[in-house]
Amino acid sequence: MKNILVMGGAGYIGSHTVKHLVENGYNVIVADNLISGHREAITTDKFEIADLMNKESLRAVFKKYPIDTVIHFAAFIAVGESVENPAKYYTNNVIGTLNLLDVMLEFDVKKIVFSSTAAVFGNPIYTPIDEKHTTNPINPYGQTKLMIEKIFEDYRRAYGLSYIAFRYFNASGCSFDGSIGEAHNPETHLIPLVLKAIKGERENIKIFGDDYDTPDGTCIRDYIHVEDLAVAHRLAVENIDKFSGTLNLGTSKGTSVKEIIDISEKITGKKCPVVIEKRRAGDPAILSATSDKAKEILGWSPKYNMEDIIKTAWNWELNKKY
Ligand code: UFG
Repeated sequence: MKNILVMGGAGYIGSHTVKHLVENGYNVIVADNLISGHREAITTDKFEIADLMNKESLRAVFKKYPIDTVIHFAAFIAVGESVENPAKYYTNNVIGTLNLLDVMLEFDVKKIVFSSTAAVFGNPIYTPIDEKHTTNPINPYGQTKLMIEKIFEDYRRAYGLSYIAFRYFNASGCSFDGSIGEAHNPETHLIPLVLKAIKGERENIKIFGDDYDTPDGTCIRDYIHVEDLAVAHRLAVENIDKFSGTLNLGTSKGTSVKEIIDISEKITGKKCPVVIEKRRAGDPAILSATSDKAKEILGWSPKYNMEDIIKTAWNWELNKKY
């Protein structure tokens, strides 16, 4: 089986993808600097410490293993922090990816699957968003991801790079067997925060605005199970010789913040203490995406629903390993 290098394979989406690839017979090598990833989340015995800002550490990995395809998750991801400290984001995310591409080309590795984001779209003009929707990021995090998408396209033309960049909507849920899950520090994502409030680990959940132009006044997002994302990455590895470009990964459905809280209360059988706060800067009212192109090109469509997401996240919250 092919050697797949997963940069950032100790992180949330990375670790779920590694697990899925290993279960499907791939030879997976994880490289991670463990700044935000977890050693316990790595389910392959081939693990190397490497950092995108240290080209020698990257070269060492490519020297040790003949790599067929790289899947690149390694990035800083906090939208708010990217506004306060853009240098950290442009340096690590953009220059780091250029370093990775340099080393890949040195070793004649020309296939990369990349974690982009719905944040490249900014405030949507219409929903669900398709790949033709204009890109207009409203924060440095989204900018870095869009820049990288553009770099890939230029490298495709000039150097024959094959790439698939996935624009994920709201990755959520945890592995069904409970062995790995979501563990950001600090945690900023809605679902783990709601479940922590229900568990009593936090005082409450703050709803950032209930005066949006949506049916219940709270923001609507397209939550997609991380195991569905993992499958999309395997299909990308299997189809990257046929297609280069960007694909949205969403469910076309939207769920509001209040609906997330209601479903969580039903599944856990407990009340969630709620406080209404003012709007958080940079939050569009509604974000959802069509995945028709991913379906057409990869044969991918999401399998799991909101209940699966909350159930697996709750199981992880109660029994987390890290
Ligand atoms: N929210 C709250 N209270 C909280 C946390 C979140 O009300 O304590 C709300 C937010 O305002 C938003 C929704 O819950 O309406 C989801 O928020 P998240 O922070 O969980 O996710 P985002 O939609 O803001 O961000 C996600 C990814 C980003 C990515 C973005 C792209 O986490 O990395 O989608 O749209 F950039």
